[in-house]
Formats: sequence, C-alpha cells, structure tokens
Amino acid sequence: MRWLTPLLTAVLLAPSTVYTAQLRFSCSQLVVDRLDPLVNPGQTPSPHLHQIVGGNSFNATMDPSVVDISQESTCTSCQFTEDFSNYWTAVLFFKARNGTYKRVSTIGNGLGYTAANGGQTVYYLSSGKVTAFKPGFRMVVGNPAFKTPAEARTNPALQFTCLASPMTRSGYRYDFPSDTCAGGIMVTVRFPTCWDGVNTDSPDHQSHVAYPVNRNCPASHPVRIPEVFYETYWDTRPFNNKAKDWPTDGTQPFVWSFGDKTGYGNHGDYIFGWKGDALQRAMDANCNSDLIQDRLNCPTLKSQAIAQANTCSVQRRVREDLDGWWKELPGGGMP
Ligand SMILES: *[C@@H]1O[C@H](CO)[C@@H](O)[C@H](O)[C@H]1NC(C)=O
Ligand SMILES: *[C@@H]1O[C@H](CO)[C@@H](O)[C@H](O)[C@H]1NC(C)=O
Repeated sequence: MRWLTPLLTAVLLAPSTVYTAQLRFSCSQLVVDRLDPLVNPGQTPSPHLHQIVGGNSFNATMDPSVVDISQESTCTSCQFTEDFSNYWTAVLFFKARNGTYKRVSTIGNGLGYTAANGGQTVYYLSSGKVTAFKPGFRMVVGNPAFKTPAEARTNPALQFTCLASPMTRSGYRYDFPSDTCAGGIMVTVRFPTCWDGVNTDSPDHQSHVAYPVNRNCPASHPVRIPEVFYETYWDTRPFNNKAKDWPTDGTQPFVWSFGDKTGYGNHGDYIFGWKGDALQRAMDANCNSDLIQDRLNCPTLKSQAIAQANTCSVQRRVREDLDGWWKELPGGGMP
C-alpha cells in the first residue's frame, strides 16, 4: 500500500493535478537552533526555535549578496548532493499537566526513510514546464501570528495529519489534532507556485510569490515555479499518556515554539541553494521518485546514502538546554 500514500496526498489537495515531475527525498536533521536568517537575520538568538535541514552553511546571517550557499556549503543533510538549500520549520513542544514544556523530536519519514536522523521529507513537484529558482531566492509561507481558521485557510496547504501509522493520509486539518496520534503528527507545508519573475525576495518574504488562481498563475506572478513541499513527522508518541499527562480541561497539549497552541500559525521557510542548473535539469527531466521502492529515480542528479546525509550537521550557535522540561518556551514563546 505504500505507493498509494503520496498519490493520495496529491489527490486530496488538488483533485486533478497530474505531476510531471515529483522529486521526493529525505533530509536528515542539520541542527535545531534559535536562528532565523530569513526573518531575523543576524539575531542570535532569534525569537523562536527552529528545526533545520539542508546545506551546512546555514547560519544566523545568509545575505545572498555576500554568500552563495551553493558554493559555501561543504555537505548537505539531504539525499541529492547538489542541493545545499535550507528548509526549516518551527519546533513542536509538549506542555505537561504540571505546566512544563518538553521539546518534541522529528522522526525520519516512515516510508522507507527510517534511517534518517529526524529531519523532514522534501518534494519538488510540477505539472508542466516550470522555471527553477534563481540564486538568492528565498520565501516564507504561513504566518506565526495567525490565530483563526479563516487566516489559516488563506494558505490552503499548511496542514496537520494525525498519524495512525506512517501511511495515514486522511483527516487533514489546520489545527493541532485534538486527540492522541498513535504514529505521531505529520505537518505538511506547501509553498506557492507562481513567481513575479523579478524579485528573489520581498520585505515580507511572501509577496514575490503567489498561489495559482483556477490553476493559472496570476498576471502579477506569471512565472510557474516548482512546488516546494515539506512533510515533517513529529514524534509525539512519548506524550500519548492522556490520562496522566494531558490537560484536565480536555484540550490538546502541543504548542509551536512561537507560543501557538492552535496550530494556525504553522509556517515554513526556504532558501534556495541548488548548485548551477541541477534543479532545472531535474524538473526538465520530469524526475519521478519511485513510490514503490523509495528510489530517488533521477539520474541527472548526484545523490548520497541517508547514512552519509546523517553525518552532515552544524554546531548550534545558541547554547541553551533543549532537552529538559522547561518552565517556558525558549525565547519566551512570542512570535
Ligand atoms: C556562522 O557565522 C559565524 C560568525 O560569522 C562563524 O563564526 C561560523 O563559523 C559560521 N558557522 C557556519 C556553520 O558557517
Ligand atoms: C512535569 O511533568 C512531566 C511529565 O509528567 C515530568 O516528566 C516532569 O518531571 C514534571 N516536572 C515537575 C517539575 O514536576
């Protein structure tokens, strides 16, 4: 049944999308740190904690006019070795009945990627011809300040799935699952697929890209770009003792590192860092990762084993205990 799952993902989110390229790969955890080179460049620490995968030139400051990360990195925690991009999200915490917080770890994708050191699965999807990102390109999707379902729905594909098993692909929702999830919680983050064709960034890191309207890119953002898509698996299994540890008022106990108990503030960050024309080549070749064997299936790209990807990591810049039971979230939990 394993082959069904990514297809079901696609079917649920876009009823008749047929992907011409579906590049899917595993990225091991590079680092968990309180840095955000996109929204809070230069700040150590940044306001909230992130989990980051990709190239090892990730740092507090990643000014594209100073550093070309595709040149600067010496390894990547992702399977394709020409990909030095950085992909990151906020971090999940469990809030115990006694009011203390414990960080939740990521687990490698259960669909054949179990040897990964946590991290996330990354997809690049296309239906038809797309233009790969330019050096320096970066974007954010979602908004940590969102507090309502209506706000969350403005980003149609930032969702939570309560996993009964790694294969569960039903019951998408915009807020945290309300009950225990036997297989953990999957968080999906899909970025917009239309670009203004000019700017590699914008002041809010969002307005240079847009979602399609009736499947077409709007005139303001006419250039089709690959759909970048993250799946992060949060290992909430150690926190499933509802009778003992969950709040007595019946609410769910998970909270994003920026203090969001609803989940509506789900967001993701991306800095493009593929070498040369590697990503364009892969999209033009319509690479389609093998859904049965989890083979990467993209001969135009160089790759490495997950065991090798696991060896790529960076030292945390912000020294703080991330493994205890905390009285408050790192940074105090404000967005
Ligand atoms: C991050 O930047 C600091 C300060 O510029 C530098 O000392 C450090 O080596 C950099 N880390 C990485 C992983 O590049
Ligand atoms: C709070 O609860 C957690 C989970 O039951 C426990 O591990 C931790 O030791 C408790 N901390 C305090 C200060 O009681």
